[in-house]
Amino acid sequence: MPPHRMPPSPDGLAAQIEALLDEPTTTHGLGRALRAAAKEIELYRYHRAGSRAWPDGRIDAVPSKIQIGGGAHRIDGFLNIDAVPPADLLWDVREGIPLHDDTVRVLFSEHFLEHIDYPRSAKHYAREAHRVLAPGGQVVTGVPDAAFVLNQYPADPGQADEMIERWYAKRDCLGDINTYLDLINYVFRDQDDDPAYTPHLWAYDHEKLVQLFGEAGFRSVEPWPFDPAIANPKRQWGSVYVIAVK
Ligand SMILES: C[S@@+](CC[C@H](N)C(=O)[O-])C[C@H]1O[C@@H](n2cnc3c(N)ncnc32)[C@H](O)[C@@H]1O
Repeated sequence: MPPHRMPPSPDGLAAQIEALLDEPTTTHGLGRALRAAAKEIELYRYHRAGSRAWPDGRIDAVPSKIQIGGGAHRIDGFLNIDAVPPADLLWDVREGIPLHDDTVRVLFSEHFLEHIDYPRSAKHYAREAHRVLAPGGQVVTGVPDAAFVLNQYPADPGQADEMIERWYAKRDCLGDINTYLDLINYVFRDQDDDPAYTPHLWAYDHEKLVQLFGEAGFRSVEPWPFDPAIANPKRQWGSVYVIAVK
């Protein structure tokens, strides 16, 4: 590398991205790509901080109950792992689950799986869940139910109202969500260009979850009876949950 060039670093790249985003000549398309890269750099920084402390990818603690991707919905008595604060442990789960083999009793996530890429990261997550669970351990997974939304299409436009109210009423997007097909688009994409939201990268239904966890080695995958003591009550409507047993 020429002596005047700094070695590449995520911090240097983040500064360059910020500067480019301020440039009036930056086009909409380039801006989208840069914002997506800036988000990934933020996740990378959090993940690096954790992985420096545990370079072999395994934390010292041996928790028996874990929540992945809980965001602000922390669960008492669980180790809450997320890519961003607030969480007990900041970790990018696409890099693996930082726990020891055969140790966990319950692994819970809801509205997380659809935010990681399929097949690479989703299948890796399912295999990692299987690795960290003790024999008989359970992974509970809830996602937006694509079948629920698709089964109602073509729908009377009025049928979209409840879904909009429950899922999107607080968002600054209602002017653009006018038809039932807009809602179907949201299940598959969510708001991919909104800094406040991470996009949906894959859609799931019961069958897809059964296949994903079955392929990862789980001996049974059944519907999970929604328990508001653990799950986020606002997720019950329009979601599908399964419980897979190792
Ligand atoms: C839509 S939020 C759901 C939050 C909560 N589970 C709920 O239902 O209200 C998705 C969560 O998954 C987390 N997440 C996304 N990708 C992740 C990753 N690669 N590793 C860990 N957490 C991730 C996000 O940071 C966010 O907190």
